[in-house]
Parts: sequence; structure tokens; C-alpha cells
Amino acid sequence: LKLVSLERQHPALIDPDSPTQRIGAKSTGFGKVKHEDKRMLSLDNMKTAEDVINYLGHEEVVLEPKIDGASLKLFYRKGRLVQAVTRGNGMEGDDVTANARTIMTVPLVLTEPVNINVVGEVYMTFTTFNDLNARLEEEGSELLANPRNAAAGTLKLKDPKEVAARSIRFVAYGSTTEFPQMRTQSQLTDWLEILGFQSVYMLPVTRSCQSLSDCFLIENKTQLAQRIKAADISRGFLDLPTDGLVFKLNDFVKQRDLGEGTKYPKYACAFKFPP
Ligand code: IVH
Repeated sequence: LKLVSLERQHPALIDPDSPTQRIGAKSTGFGKVKHEDKRMLSLDNMKTAEDVINYLGHEEVVLEPKIDGASLKLFYRKGRLVQAVTRGNGMEGDDVTANARTIMTVPLVLTEPVNINVVGEVYMTFTTFNDLNARLEEEGSELLANPRNAAAGTLKLKDPKEVAARSIRFVAYGSTTEFPQMRTQSQLTDWLEILGFQSVYMLPVTRSCQSLSDCFLIENKTQLAQRIKAADISRGFLDLPTDGLVFKLNDFVKQRDLGEGTKYPKYACAFKFPP
């Protein structure tokens, strides 16, 4: 309130990245943006622990929940959010900057003045989804099918005010910018947290939920199958939809050595639970 009144008294001093400036004007459409830094790939699906071992080998991996939302890439220049782009067809997405700015878990200014492109998922919690559908029902509007559609649909609304009212969230799981001092995926995750993002370790839970995001060495089939089973139980305590798990090689040098295929990276894969 103090900030609002100060800004009213001195409008010339309003910073475009002030927390009061998150909600902008209605848009008429979304510009197309090419993913010039890096294509946005999807992940190949594994069905068993053995599949995961065959894909990644006996390596150190990070295990993360596969969040069922819409992927989003955020561009920061000198630590300030300059653009937000959806995945689209992987080569080209929509510029949804005005909508992304309304997401409270999308920092407008980072804690360090860096140039970084951050990738992550926009999602809606079950709690928000149920509240939203209750409101839509009261208004006599059409109900939303599931939190994934709700999150993706919200990102494409024309009115940032309505986007803000729907309380979607952003979780950061990677970057397309290379930093030589970052040697592992877990280091990058730690740094994303320091910069001001919520990582896959900071998801809203309904109860204590262990070992859903973790880093470990793949030893054998039995050990990995146990990990997968434990993570499956844990994901039931998340207040958001997941449709599987993601495994990524922890070491960036090894990630780079394996590289990417035409459709999928070779250094990461998804484990899909039966629906
Ligand atoms: S990493 C090269 N990590 O799943 C792609 N993706 O099928 C690297 N997703 O398009 C993606 N949770 O939208 C990654 N923890 C996670 C994820 C995640 C959800 C989505 C993402 C991606 C799709 C891949």
C-alpha cells in the first residue's frame, strides 16, 4: 500500500518492473517468436526401470516430477524479464510476455543482473482448478476439463487481468543458456532458486512428500524400480498434476556428449505412469 501511494504521488518514478506493474493492457493477439537459442524438444517415454537404464546407462541422474502443464521459456536480459514464449510447435511459439508477467512465481527482476533463458512449466494447482471451476459454474460458463488445459488456456487469454485472477504458477527446470561454471543439472537448479525461481524442489504439496526430486546414481533395475515406486507415491501428495517422472543425466559434459536426436534429447527421458 505504501508503494501504491508513493507511486501515485510520483508517477514519474514508477519502475516498469515494480510489483504494481505486473498487469498490463489487453492484447489483440500474440506475436510469433522463433526458438532461435534452442528448439524445444519433448521427451521420449519409458515404461519400465529397464527402459530408463537402457536409455541413460548406470549414471548419476536427477529425478524430477513431470509436471502436466504448458512449457514456457523466459528471456532475461541484465536480470530483467524481457520476453516469454510458449513451446508452440517446438520451432516457433507465441509471445505471451504480458500474461507471463502476471504470474507471481515469474520473477520480473532476478537477484543477479544476468542474461539467461529459463525453461519451465506453467501449471495450475488442483486447489486453484477446483475454485476456478466452481466460479465458472456459478457464472454459468463452460467448465475446464483439467488443470493442464486450464493452465495452457489461461496463458493464451487476451486479458492479463483475467490471467492474474486465475493464479497459474511457473516452475523452472532448466536453461538454454550455457554457463561454463555450471557443471551439473543440480547446480543449475540451485542457482535458479538463488536467482528467484521456484524449482522442482519447491512445488506445493499437500503433505510431506519425499524423494520426488532427487539426485542419485542408477545402480540396478531393482533399485531404480524402487525409486520410481516411491516417487509415484510421493507425487500423490503434490497439489498439481503430474503425468510421470523425468530423468536427466546430472553431468552437463555427459549431457553434451550424448546430445540430441531429431525428436528427443538422448541425455534425458520421461517415465510415464499408466493413466
Ligand atoms: S525437461 C528437452 N523437466 O515435458 C526437453 N520437462 O515431454 C527438456 N515437462 O516439453 C524438458 N516437467 O513441457 C523437463 N521436470 C521436467 C518437466 C518437463 C514437465 C514437460 C515439458 C516438456 C515435456 C517433454
